[in-house]
Amino acid sequence: MLGINSEGRVSPFMPGCQAIFTQIGADGTALHDRKIFTTYDGLSGLAQNPVQPHTVTTEARTCEDCHASRKAVGLGSGIYNSRANGLDIDFELERIVDENGKQIQATNHVGARPFNKEEQQNILRVNTCISCHKYNADAAFWKKVTDVTGFVKNDEKHKEMLENIFKKGSK
Ligand code: HEC
Ligand code: HEC
Repeated sequence: MLGINSEGRVSPFMPGCQAIFTQIGADGTALHDRKIFTTYDGLSGLAQNPVQPHTVTTEARTCEDCHASRKAVGLGSGIYNSRANGLDIDFELERIVDENGKQIQATNHVGARPFNKEEQQNILRVNTCISCHKYNADAAFWKKVTDVTGFVKNDEKHKEMLENIFKKGSK
């Protein structure tokens, strides 16, 4: 997932640390069972931090990996159910922010933060365009698009086409 680091730049984030505390008493019973603490600021005691993950390659991720991904913008993948796994929290371990930009998990880096609402929406709306304008689209893919949309002769035609798609989509 991505967020803003302490230098104000977009950075990958990873867990660090997500402490979940269990203490077993002398009699073998749990005195604390999977307890998650709360920070002074009222955030969960689970933290995700900016990191340079040593995964640099010459091959870039695809546009969709970020622009069509809830997880990449910090909203979690929607797959993991914390409560069903015995944790006393209503958010995923990989969710650091809600859709309104409210930070959920702590970070230990001064000034680091998840994306706010506007940033999340700006990133995710790019996918509207990528669905047709795939950066690595070959002629066969583009023909599929224009077979449906036709070639748009100018900006006005493009706007009309998009408006039609949005209207159909909102029904
Ligand atoms: C590793 C994640 C990642 C990948 C891969 C990626 N982007 Fe982005 N993109 C971002 C982030 C994060 C921002 C917001 C940057 C900011 O606000 O400073 C952004 C911003 C943009 C914007 C500006 C959006 C706006 O409304 O301001 C466009 C357009 C865009 N990306 C297109 C693309 C295209 C096309 C590709 C594929 C060739 C791509 N991106 C690949 C993460 C990514
Ligand atoms: C439903 C498919 C579709 C979507 C979604 C779409 N476009 Fe297009 N776009 C096209 C087609 C078709 C053309 C015309 C291609 C041609 O005439 O050769 C085009 C042309 C363009 C051009 C002109 C490119 C050129 O070489 O002159 C730009 C810029 C553009 N689109 C931007 C966008 C942006 C920004 C978005 C997202 C808001 C977007 N498009 C979403 C289908 C789409």
